[in-house]
Amino acid sequence: MRRKITVVGAGRVGETTAHVLAKRALGDVVLVDVVPSLAHGKALDLMELGPLDGSDVRVAGSTGYEESRYSDVVVVTSGLPRKPGESREDLLKKNIAIVRSVVEQVMHWSPGAFLLMVTNPIDTMAWVAKAVTGWPRERVFGMAGILDTSRLRAFLAMELGCSVRDVTALVLGGHGDEMVPLVRCAAAGGIPVEELLPPERLEAAVARTRGAGGEIVKMLGFSAYFSPAGAIADMVQAVLKDEKRVVPCSAYLQGEYGARDVYLGVPVLLGAGGVERIFQVSLTGTEKQMLSRSIQLCRESIEEARALMGVAV
Ligand code: LAC
Repeated sequence: MRRKITVVGAGRVGETTAHVLAKRALGDVVLVDVVPSLAHGKALDLMELGPLDGSDVRVAGSTGYEESRYSDVVVVTSGLPRKPGESREDLLKKNIAIVRSVVEQVMHWSPGAFLLMVTNPIDTMAWVAKAVTGWPRERVFGMAGILDTSRLRAFLAMELGCSVRDVTALVLGGHGDEMVPLVRCAAAGGIPVEELLPPERLEAAVARTRGAGGEIVKMLGFSAYFSPAGAIADMVQAVLKDEKRVVPCSAYLQGEYGARDVYLGVPVLLGAGGVERIFQVSLTGTEKQMLSRSIQLCRESIEEARALMGVAV
């Protein structure tokens, strides 16, 4: 039987994700959006692209969730952008309400699904999804580490003038300016990049990675969507094809890296069981300090969410 992937939210990230998923033919795709006919129109356009992309999957649009029934994976991208004059807390409150109602629908229609959270702040929204569903951590995780790592790989490849395919890297921590790129783990064709680039070029690549989301917002006036969609598709593919990828993603920590009851970007084994394993990397003193700062920020945001939701956990 064909697998089913639901993408909630037909904004730029949602529609681009639906496109990449359909092109990779990982399964039938259901695009859900509350705005009347928006998801239907985009899904129809993607169906009409099928013959050109050589993809046979069905793409359906919907305003409700019945169409998404028994999805294998549900990707949640819905949320509002910040309006001028609106506080971060107001936005967080509205987006928590949106994510909560989406996740309740997912629980009802797809009780066995994997939940991949993309709405920002990703780590906090993954926590909200776990608090609402009570599902095991293997099935509730967030996108970001793969995106941040892809950005670092792209910047290092630009510095080296080499193929991005040969550059590997690892970015830990929350998906924010305080993320922790582990440069000493980055390599080009297996050669540590620390042996190939001077420290100031490495620092520049790291700084650019940290600010990469913001750099694009400044240019476009809205968030990136091609690279987030690619990162989401890689995660969905890892699960549906049981690829056992070793990638960073936002996972629920229960003591790993000295953190508990928070979501944070850490390297995991991603396969048919979802987050099958969390890897603990030994960190240097400076890395530990940077990671604990990132954990602290994630924790503060989660505490804010907990208070806004009135969750007594
Ligand atoms: C970014 C958004 C997806 O980093 O958070 O571009």
